[in-house]
Amino acid sequence: MADGQGCLRRFLCELTRLCDAGTGEADIREHGGAALSRLVATDEWLPPEFAQPHPAHYRQYLLYCDPLERFSVVSFVWGPGQRTPVHDHTVWGLIGMLRGAEVSRNYSIDPGGRLSCAGEERLLPGAVTAVSPQIGDIHQVENCLVDRPSISIHAYGANIGAVARHIFVLESGSMKPFVSGYANTMLPNLWDRSAEVRARLGI
Ligand code: FE2
Repeated sequence: MADGQGCLRRFLCELTRLCDAGTGEADIREHGGAALSRLVATDEWLPPEFAQPHPAHYRQYLLYCDPLERFSVVSFVWGPGQRTPVHDHTVWGLIGMLRGAEVSRNYSIDPGGRLSCAGEERLLPGAVTAVSPQIGDIHQVENCLVDRPSISIHAYGANIGAVARHIFVLESGSMKPFVSGYANTMLPNLWDRSAEVRARLGI
């Protein structure tokens, strides 16, 4: 595999070091967000298999999960006009826009469980935003483009596909349990660095 994967490996190393440092979520959001900015500043590294939309619904591909499940990294791929339900995460999340355009509609929840719209953010390539129970955890994300896919790269403070979380039905005010899972059963091989070693050896 061509070493477009180097920037993703660097990002994974940075997140691993941040988790190892144990300096807390705010530090991870700040420095992990800066690292994610660097990752989505270029768009040639995501393998095409993890950038394929589905005709009927959005897809979340797992790119990597920390062995201790302290964080995971996914590519989120929306077909034209597709959107998520209103949902929460229950852990910190970083969202970096890679391709296309998305809108994140953010919601706050009052002690009675009522949701109200707290504004929206339009994300263009290179933009990074965050979610978390500490700063606002409920949103709905939609592909702004009606004629082509959009892709963002997300990092979360857990193995996000296996986290018990919630979706919210605005009309009824009800909340349902939600476990997202992943669209893929195989992970990208980020670790074949043989070409660079052969080049160094001149073989
Ligand atoms: Fe989300």
